[in-house]
Amino acid sequence: MHQYQQGTYTKQAHKAIPEGCFEEEQGLKGFFGPASHLIKKEPSTRWQKIEGPLKPRMFDLVPAFANPVDQRILFNRDLSIGVKTVLPQSENSKNAFRNADGDQLYFCHQGSGVFLTEYGLLNYRAGHYIVVPKCLTHSIVPEEPSQFLTVENRTSHYQEPDRGLVGRHAIYDTAALEKPDLDQMQAYLKSLGDGPIRIHVKRLDQITKFEYDKSIYDTVGWKGDLFPFTLHTDDMMPLMSHRAHLPPSAHTTFVAKEFVICTFLPRPLESDEDALKVPFYHQNIDYDEVLFYHRGDFFSRDNLHAGMMSLHPAGFPHGPHPKAVKSIKGKTQTNEYAVMIDSRWPLEVDESAGGLELSEYWKSWQSK
Ligand SMILES: [Fe+2]
Repeated sequence: MHQYQQGTYTKQAHKAIPEGCFEEEQGLKGFFGPASHLIKKEPSTRWQKIEGPLKPRMFDLVPAFANPVDQRILFNRDLSIGVKTVLPQSENSKNAFRNADGDQLYFCHQGSGVFLTEYGLLNYRAGHYIVVPKCLTHSIVPEEPSQFLTVENRTSHYQEPDRGLVGRHAIYDTAALEKPDLDQMQAYLKSLGDGPIRIHVKRLDQITKFEYDKSIYDTVGWKGDLFPFTLHTDDMMPLMSHRAHLPPSAHTTFVAKEFVICTFLPRPLESDEDALKVPFYHQNIDYDEVLFYHRGDFFSRDNLHAGMMSLHPAGFPHGPHPKAVKSIKGKTQTNEYAVMIDSRWPLEVDESAGGLELSEYWKSWQSK
């Protein structure tokens, strides 16, 4: 379809929006497909009433994180998003886990410790992604209580994003991916006296227990391009343009066949006088969007705290809260750390997550 325009429109998206008006992007294929920008007198988030199952959802995961837990919150055929809390205890180094349902990604929200794997030891602390490919055996051994956001990739494997025009070292350099260390692992196991002898294997969400007579972590060497790794937010280099707001896809960290994971990190705000500084109102028509608030000041939302998670299903526009639009004027920097998961197909809410939901979230765009 060729581009067409009428009435008041802008030459460049997200820039020089007429005073007193709002821009709304309606786009296909998650910021990569056909899109239009509507200039409106009011944001479309000014709904007075929503009846029916489709509404923005918000979950406060802090109570769930407070206890040892492994709980699914959102899911569909391709992915499962959950919370996991592991406390330091001697049993951790006796047991191992193997996920035969898919690649397992952990994002450490709080805590620190090590992952033991057949490939070596990985250290983690808050802000680390730990990516464990499907069926690779691992044990989480926390040094302090550890809270993870988990994203299970059930129908593909995690890959790096296509960095296109900005080159292969942008966003994060592959040298920043931390690899498992076999020497550290062997020293660690020696300090423990022994390693795990039990493996819990998950396949079709059912657990099978394997038991051995000696430690399963007995690898003496390996080579290959399949292994667990970590990536810390401190080693990520967010893209920005000082002239025009970039779409969320500029912050892609990992891609799967049917979803992407993006990381929003502190960065300078756009400095051009006529640049939009808050995220633009939009309908990401083909995707359900999940945002986990890790830490910092969440500048585009009101009344949020770290440990919350929102779900904005496809089917309606969303964007910044009215207070954020007003307060952005004096700001020059964002200070937010958030993980976004955009799913190509609709997500369902696990029935166990009902008690974590803030039922009035859909009203939060109303001016106060
Ligand atoms: Fe969005």
